[in-house]
Amino acid sequence: MILQSNADFLRTIPTLDVEVRLISLEEGEELRRRVLRPGEKNWRISFCPASDFFHMGAFHASQLVSVASFLVESSDNAFIGQGESWRLRGMATSPEMQSRGVGGRVLGQGLAEVEKRNGALVWCHGRLSAARFYQNHGFESVGDVFEIPGTGLHALYIRKLGLRRSGDEFHCNS
Ligand SMILES: CC(C)(COP(=O)(O)OP(=O)(O)OC[C@H]1O[C@@H](n2cnc3c(N)ncnc32)[C@H](O)[C@@H]1OP(=O)(O)O)[C@@H](O)C(=O)NCCC(=O)NCCS
Repeated sequence: MILQSNADFLRTIPTLDVEVRLISLEEGEELRRRVLRPGEKNWRISFCPASDFFHMGAFHASQLVSVASFLVESSDNAFIGQGESWRLRGMATSPEMQSRGVGGRVLGQGLAEVEKRNGALVWCHGRLSAARFYQNHGFESVGDVFEIPGTGLHALYIRKLGLRRSGDEFHCNS
């Protein structure tokens, strides 16, 4: 009998049939609470956009299974530089649906939406446990690792978008 490695086993799981679309902040709240702060009954993401923003969700069998939010927000981190920066917040996939490509589709569609709205760059404070996920989607980790109390080690991840604008420093097509 041939034993499959975990990675081989995962590769046999088909990609889910999902619909990815814009959602409201409220629609994503329960899923985020369950995934990002299990046990904190009253937790809500603090989300205070100064200008443009949107929330993206993936539905499977009419259930929300993955969520991410994007808002215009600059970071004072020197690595980010000038240009319109968007922040990715509250990326979460329900545990039973993880590693099936759903989060990747939400993130990919979110990045495309930011690009459509003329964003030049997306950044986030991401958990180190999700580093490979962000790197697989073109994010680079910059600066030092830091701890956010209660949720562990994080890094700043940056994804430049494919805009070519004269007069700013983002000239990346990746
Ligand atoms: C990080 C997170 C959002 C990723 O969501 P996801 O839906 O699992 O993401 P994907 O399925 O697109 O990608 C995850 C992995 O599954 C793999 N995968 C994707 N489709 C697959 C398939 N059909 N079969 C097998 N594996 C697959 C990807 O290669 C990826 O691998 P890697 O990231 O380990 O290299 C999710 O794991 C999560 O909610 N984690 C807990 C909360 C968290 O850490 N959020 C981020 C806060 S910063």
